[in-house]
Amino acid sequence: MQTKTNQLMDAISMSKIDLSQRLENLHEIIRGRYEFIDRIAIALYDAKTDLLKTFVSSTPDGSPLKAYEAHMSEVPSLQTLIHLRKSRIVQDIDDTFHAHSDHTEWLKKQHYLSSYTIPVFQGSHFVAFLFFDSKTPNAFQQETLHFLDVFADLAAHLYLVELAAVKSLLNTVNLATDFARIRDLETGNHLDRMAMYSRLIAKGIAEKYQLTDEFVEYLHLFAPLHDIGKVGIPDKILLKPGKLDADEWNTMKKHVQLGVLMIDQMIEDLGLNQNTAATIMRNVVSGHHERGDGSGYPLGLTLAQIPIESRIIAIADVYDALSTSRPYKKAWSEEDVIAELHKEVAAGRLDADCVTALLNATEERLQIQTQFADPI
Ligand code: C2E
Ligand code: SIN
Ligand code: SIN
Ligand code: SIN
Ligand code: FE
Ligand code: FE
Repeated sequence: MQTKTNQLMDAISMSKIDLSQRLENLHEIIRGRYEFIDRIAIALYDAKTDLLKTFVSSTPDGSPLKAYEAHMSEVPSLQTLIHLRKSRIVQDIDDTFHAHSDHTEWLKKQHYLSSYTIPVFQGSHFVAFLFFDSKTPNAFQQETLHFLDVFADLAAHLYLVELAAVKSLLNTVNLATDFARIRDLETGNHLDRMAMYSRLIAKGIAEKYQLTDEFVEYLHLFAPLHDIGKVGIPDKILLKPGKLDADEWNTMKKHVQLGVLMIDQMIEDLGLNQNTAATIMRNVVSGHHERGDGSGYPLGLTLAQIPIESRIIAIADVYDALSTSRPYKKAWSEEDVIAELHKEVAAGRLDADCVTALLNATEERLQIQTQFADPI
């Protein structure tokens, strides 16, 4: 038992490893004792959108990347657990759930037969569900539950620590940089569209690139920060109605390094050097003007050297710049935007998979454009 405890303590103290990895480590330890626990998942709740979404999961032999997303209001059985602050054991999923919800269908298709569900609270706020799923019926007996409850505290702690780290990172960046100024310049809608186009692309390529739900959510969260360095660029350049001259252009390009400096300072201050979220945030800023043919800035990287998060942001940024009006340009028609993106792919400048993902999702893409259109 002593070694088990030590192993657990090691697993949670390795804050330099990302949350998925830590959850997998814990899962492995648990499986040493309870082999029948086939899956552990943390689904986080976003009160703003009422969505419950898979955040991280550990599934040694299953299909781990299948994201689960539902409106809480549509899953009354889970809502009840929140109101009662109670865990729930389901001993026979086939017998218990007859409703044809996506979630039930999914669980059945994966051949999960029993489950243990624990709501996680931060103070009085419900923040997440922790799911244990098993392919063995009646898997969750009293002795197991006792152990899992102890474990659940640890997993919930991991989750809340990570959440707090990401939140403090965002808060610090927002505060320290007078983010409001960027909001004025670019309008809040541009930032929301960036978040949503980026997520759309990431979801479209998630399977091929093995992107986790955690990654997709971080990208959605950090996409609006890509031009944070523009706070250091004079308004007379930023708001110039016409073309920039050579000097102005050289100044403008510095917004990338400025942004990286700011982000690095925050990451250092918060001690998040190896943190996954922090790395994604940094790459969103540092790589969004790199281009596959080496013609981008500041480093002139080539496609394989550009992190996938940077490639995704680049396309969201170009798509949005072309499809809306800017101080220096009019909005283009959708047809012209699509033609330009194809041209950029053909020239090896933009990532073909990411562009395909964005262009294939026509309905969602145009919905974002319409719903978050700039005020005229
Ligand atoms: P932005 O307005 O957010 O534009 C983001 C990116 O969209 C641009 O980054 C560029 O990659 C892409 N983009 C914009 N127009 C076109 C286009 O006609 N074709 C293609 N293929 N891509 C386009 P870029 O060029 O590195 O510029 C960075 C920022 O510099 C722009 O951000 C904007 O704030 C500023 N900027 C660029 N050109 C001008 C200009 O002529 N006048 C002014 N005032 N600002 C400019
Ligand atoms: C999820 O996929 O995140 C929730 C479903 C479950 O494991 O019960
Ligand atoms: C449902 O999908 O209808 C219920 C699923 C759950 O409560 O875990
Ligand atoms: C959403 O989460 O889909 C809407 C909020 C946003 O993207 O900023
Ligand atoms: Fe930029
Ligand atoms: Fe931008």
